[in-house]
Amino acid sequence: MADKDQRPTYPLAPANGYHRSDAEYGREEDSGDLRRKKRIRYFLYFVAFVIFQTGVIAIFTLTIMKVRTPKFRMESATFDSFSVGTSTNPTFDIRMNARVSIKNANFGKYKYDNTTMYFFYQGSPVGQADIYKSSVGWRTNKKFNAVVNLSSVNLPSTAKDQLGNDLTKRLVPLTSMADLKGKVALTFIFKKKKAIQMNCTMEIVVSSQQLSNIVCK
Ligand SMILES: *[C@@H]1O[C@H](CO)[C@@H](O)[C@H](O)[C@H]1NC(C)=O
Ligand SMILES: *[C@@H]1O[C@H](CO)[C@@H](O)[C@H](O)[C@H]1NC(C)=O
Ligand SMILES: *[C@@H]1O[C@H](CO)[C@@H](O)[C@H](O)[C@H]1NC(C)=O
Repeated sequence: MADKDQRPTYPLAPANGYHRSDAEYGREEDSGDLRRKKRIRYFLYFVAFVIFQTGVIAIFTLTIMKVRTPKFRMESATFDSFSVGTSTNPTFDIRMNARVSIKNANFGKYKYDNTTMYFFYQGSPVGQADIYKSSVGWRTNKKFNAVVNLSSVNLPSTAKDQLGNDLTKRLVPLTSMADLKGKVALTFIFKKKKAIQMNCTMEIVVSSQQLSNIVCK
């Protein structure tokens, strides 16, 4: 009986001892491993945070802080008075209500100064309109009217000859140009100077008294 009892206990005792020392050794190894794993994990968190921050800054600079050039165009026009001559008496005297737009795609206001919009026929000035200093809100397409008197009075004779031809065709081509100086305010402190140009071509359709084919660069 004693032999039978001893046989199972004898190999168990040293086995228990081994187990204990094994477990203790293992625990020491575990806590070292754990610290290293924690350090790696924190390092990975830090790397992920840096990547995230870089992404946020990149998106911010590429969208919100990016300075886009506002667009200054002629949209349409109506005529308050309309008087044109003939191919033998080539003249025009037109009071035009020009509808212009300034499109600001920035995430900040665009403030601009006074300027003048000029109209040309065959490269010669035929009228001008004042544009008063104002501002366009962020991501806004501002539209407003500018009144201009178009007159052929000061045209040189070569242009007058051409006007005779154009009046036969009942189409008078014009160009409009303007330089606008202003600033884009992206934040309260960050402002960027942005000058924009208007450069449009259009046609006065004499028969219907309309302005058509407006193309702006
Ligand atoms: C802009 O035009 C208005 C009206 O003509 C004038 O009173 C004002 O002084 C001008 N501003 C600048 C900065 O030239
Ligand atoms: C256009 O002409 C009319 C009448 O001749 C005048 O009252 C008006 O002030 C002029 N407008 C411009 C912008 O020159
Ligand atoms: C306006 O555009 C025309 C072509 O459409 C170009 O030939 C001309 O040089 C431009 N003018 C300015 C002042 O940018």
